[in-house]
This record gives sequence, C-alpha cells and structure tokens, in this order.
Amino acid sequence: MQFCTMLKKLQQKWGVNSGKMFLIMITFALGGSSCARLADLLLLLFFDEKNIFWWTAYFFLIVVLWPICVILISILLGQYSFFKSYIFRIWGKMIGKSVKINQKTTKIAIFASGKGSNANNIISYFKNISSVKIALILTDNSEAGVIDVAKNNHIPFHILNKEDRIDYSNCIEKLRNNHIDFIVLAGYLKKIPESLIRAFPEKIINIHPALLPKYGGKGMYGSNVHESVIAKKETESGITIHFVDEQYDHGEIIFQQNCDITASDTAETLAEKIHQLEYAHFPRVIYEVVQKQNQR
Ligand code: GRF
Repeated sequence: MQFCTMLKKLQQKWGVNSGKMFLIMITFALGGSSCARLADLLLLLFFDEKNIFWWTAYFFLIVVLWPICVILISILLGQYSFFKSYIFRIWGKMIGKSVKINQKTTKIAIFASGKGSNANNIISYFKNISSVKIALILTDNSEAGVIDVAKNNHIPFHILNKEDRIDYSNCIEKLRNNHIDFIVLAGYLKKIPESLIRAFPEKIINIHPALLPKYGGKGMYGSNVHESVIAKKETESGITIHFVDEQYDHGEIIFQQNCDITASDTAETLAEKIHQLEYAHFPRVIYEVVQKQNQR
C-alpha cells in the first residue's frame, strides 16, 4: 500500500501518466538487473573469488555501468528524454551542483474569474516541475479569489478591465512581454476573442464542468451547469478539457472523465464531485498537452 502511495507521488512529481510510469519502472528494473549481471560477468575475467577487492571493483563498475544500461534500455522503450534529464539531475546532486541541461521552460498564463481553486491546484502541481512555470494570472474580476491565489504564490497578475476586453491587444502584448507559451482557462467566464486564439493557436485549453457537448455554450457556467444537469435527472456528469476555438465550449476535446449522480445529489454536491475530478486530472492533462506540443 505504502509502495503504491510512493509510486503515485513520484508519478505526480514527474508529471507522467500511468502508461509512461510503467515504462519508466520497467526501464529501472531492466537497467538495474542488466548492469548487475554485466558487472558480474566482467569481474569473472579478473577474480576467482568474491573478496574485498571484488566488492570494491563491483561497486565502481555499477556506478559506471548503471547509467549506460539505463540509457540504452530507455532508448529501446522510448523513454530516452526522461532518463537523460533524470541521470543529469542525479549527477548534479552527486557533485553538489545543479547541472543545467538544455531544457525549455514552458510559461503558462492562467485566466480565471472566480475563486481560483483550480488555479491554486495547478500552481501547486507545477511547483516541483522545473520545465513548466505558471508565469501570469489574468482575471476579468477585480474581486476574484484568484487574485489572492496569485499574491500568495508570488505570481504576477493582471486585471482585464472593460477596454482590455473590448480590444484584447493589450492583453496579447502583456502575454508576449511575459513570454507566455500556453494559456489555461480555469473558470474564466468571458468569451475568448478570435484575436487571442489567432495569437495562440492550439495553445489555449479550457475546463468545462460537464460532459460536452451536453450542457455547454453561452450561459452554461458554474452552478447553472450543475442545476441543469440535476433538473434533467441525468445519472452522470463529469469534466471536459478541450482546446478553445471561436465558439463557447466547442473546441477539440482532449480529455473527459465522468462521475455518477445519485438520487440525493444536489447542484452543490455535484459541484463538489466535479471539483474533485478537476483537481485530480486538470494539471496532469495540461502537462501532457504541453509535453506533446514541445516534442513537435
Ligand atoms: C470550475 O468548476 C471549472 O470547471 C469552471 O469554473 C469552475 C472554477 O472553479 N469552468 P474555481 O474558481 O477553480 O474554484
């Protein structure tokens, strides 16, 4: 049980999905066993018995052979880029320096209009992932809780006033000045204009608290969504993460996850279930999309 919890924590720290985590574990296992076997075979050439010199030589051989074996197996299993940075990091720790490998940092801006609990969750998730930085928070609501989230996490924020929202060129300039690569809408209630979509093609994703294409479109936000779902006596709802296009809640779907609705559920209890799904999946999906785009 504890082992599973440890694996889950590692998976979250490395920001990988279960399939990739499985391949990483296989690489570790095969890398470790093949390196031990190879060291054994090599030492047979020089020693007749396992004495103190054998163990000393064995230790040094393992230190040299382990990274080589792991890298070779990672190439076979398609995990080279993960292990390259992993081994560089260990090496850096051993020599007491942080070894800089040429890794690009993706800067994300989060747009939100409300409490910002998703924004907060995304920020915590990426704190341990050096290749992604939440660099800017934007809101259309000067009273939004997400402003406190930005302040508490020392992230610059900007409030989009009415003029900013009529003509988004100010906003686009702000995003460019902050070197933003990717935009995440986490409860942003205003429509994203064409100019912003054109400036960040396939780089804006949104989370919707229902299973699109049902319960999407204008006016379908916050508790409106959950009230409609309950009123229609649906037996399930869920979350949809999708790319943003010119229409409300319409772009290509990236990920969906459902949850059951019981007879005793209300709009409030359903909202809570949905939030739990959002916290569990949204950051990971963001990370997967960013990684995929960076590999192009
Ligand atoms: C979330 O349910 C999200 O799906 C929707 O708005 C809500 C924002 O909640 N688009 P919070 O502000 O992150 O708590």
